[in-house]
This record gives sequence, C-alpha cells and structure tokens, in this order.
Amino acid sequence: MKKFTKLLACVLTAAVMVTAVGCGGNTETTENTETTENTETAGEIVMATNAEFPPYEFREGGEIVGIDVEIAQAIAEKLGYTLKIEDMAFDSIIPAIQSGKADMGLAGMTVTEDRLVNVNFSDSYVTAYQAIIVKADNTDITGPDSLTGKKIGVQLGTTGDIYSSDIEGATVERYSKGFEAVQALEQGKIDAVIIDVEPAKEFAKDNANIKVLDTPFTEEEYAIAIAKDNEELLNSVNEVLKELKESGKFDEIKAKYISE
Ligand code: ARG
Repeated sequence: MKKFTKLLACVLTAAVMVTAVGCGGNTETTENTETTENTETAGEIVMATNAEFPPYEFREGGEIVGIDVEIAQAIAEKLGYTLKIEDMAFDSIIPAIQSGKADMGLAGMTVTEDRLVNVNFSDSYVTAYQAIIVKADNTDITGPDSLTGKKIGVQLGTTGDIYSSDIEGATVERYSKGFEAVQALEQGKIDAVIIDVEPAKEFAKDNANIKVLDTPFTEEEYAIAIAKDNEELLNSVNEVLKELKESGKFDEIKAKYISE
C-alpha cells in the first residue's frame, strides 16, 4: 500500500519535473536512477488472498485462479500495475493489508463491523450467504434451527466461524482450510460444515457423500479490503469495479466460474 502511493508520487514527480528529486529518501537520486528504481519495485500491486475458496480463488495446476483473481487482474491492468498474488492464511489477510505487506485483500471477504475497524472496504461486488453442508444421508439437520448442540466445522476466522460460535450448545471445530472441514464431515468427525454458498457447492460437486442444504442463513456482501490510509487506492478500485459492472465484464468473469 505504502509502495503504491509512493510509486504514484514518483511517477507523477518524474512526469512533471526535469530535475529529479528522489522519492526514496535519497535526495540526490537522479531521474535516471529513479526510472530504474520504478521498474524494479514499482508497477506492482499486491493482492493478499487465501486460495482455498473455489470459485473465488483456488489452485489449478499450480496457478492461483478464480473470480477474485480476475477482478484483481482487471484492477491492476486499469491502474497500470502488474498483479502479484500473496497466498496466506485467511486470518493473515487483514494484518497483511494493515502492515502494508499487501495493497488489497480479495478473498470472498465479507464486510463486517469488526473488520471495518481495521481496514476499509470497497463497494460490494457479490452478495452471498453461509450455507450448511451435511452428509447426504443426514435427515436430522434440515436448516440453521437444527444445529443446536451439533459439532460444526468451519474455516478459521471466517464469518462461518463467527456465526457458528453463536449457535447454542454447538461445538465449533476450526480448520485452516474449508476443504479440511468437508473431509472431517465425510469422516464423520463433525455433523455439519458452515461455509459460503459457492465454495459449498464446489466442494459438494461430484461428491455423492455430502449435500448442501437449501436454507441459507445470513446474507453477506463481499468487498475488497484496503488499508485505512490509502483512500486513493480505495477510490480507484471503486471506479474500476463500477466500470466492470457496467461493461458486463464482471458478469462475464462470474459466468466463467459459476454455472447457474
Ligand atoms: N466470506 C467469508 C468471510 O469473509 C469467508 C471467506 C473465506 N475466503 C477464503 N479465501 N478462504 O469470512
């Protein structure tokens, strides 16, 4: 993030000034070195994510792909940057944004009051909900109301984790990956998994052992996390999001990964 603003300042400075003034604290830097510096560190915008969340971000043949990746790619292109993806634990994303290690967090991340204390969020780009996955032959759990006293698996630090923790008498098992929760369900270690609807469908696809219940609970909005002090990037990102929505490009990206 710091890098982003600083870089922009450098580019602007270079464009306006003939006599170069260093941007890196060294006031004797010449314009030429400035240019070299920019091609090395700059031109890069860093996306923090947790690539365990199909169809938004997941690994395919060693590469990280998905809806969020394509949105980030579009943002990078429009703003003239090369996209760099940092894959990390989901609960490390906000700290990475806060510390400036990453510029923007795209991870199917739900806007919550608590998160808003630490980061800003862009305009929303997806409305989603938490879904319940159970074993295919389960007749006992039919919706949120039948989760009382059950063993529920979630991905650590997600909204599924937060909501499950509020269910009366329920035991919450926290996994570092959503997929691990699904595996535990299949092995009969837990009774249900609470996770966002699209990953739920992805995990249940081609898996006859489990099913996703129709009853959604909680509606949530996904948005892009950006550092509190980088309003400039926040505004640019919102502009690009608006453009992507209006041009139909956003629907195109979604259709590529979600078949309705
Ligand atoms: N929407 C949920 C949340 O914000 C889950 C997001 C998990 N994302 C991921 N890339 N693992 O808490």
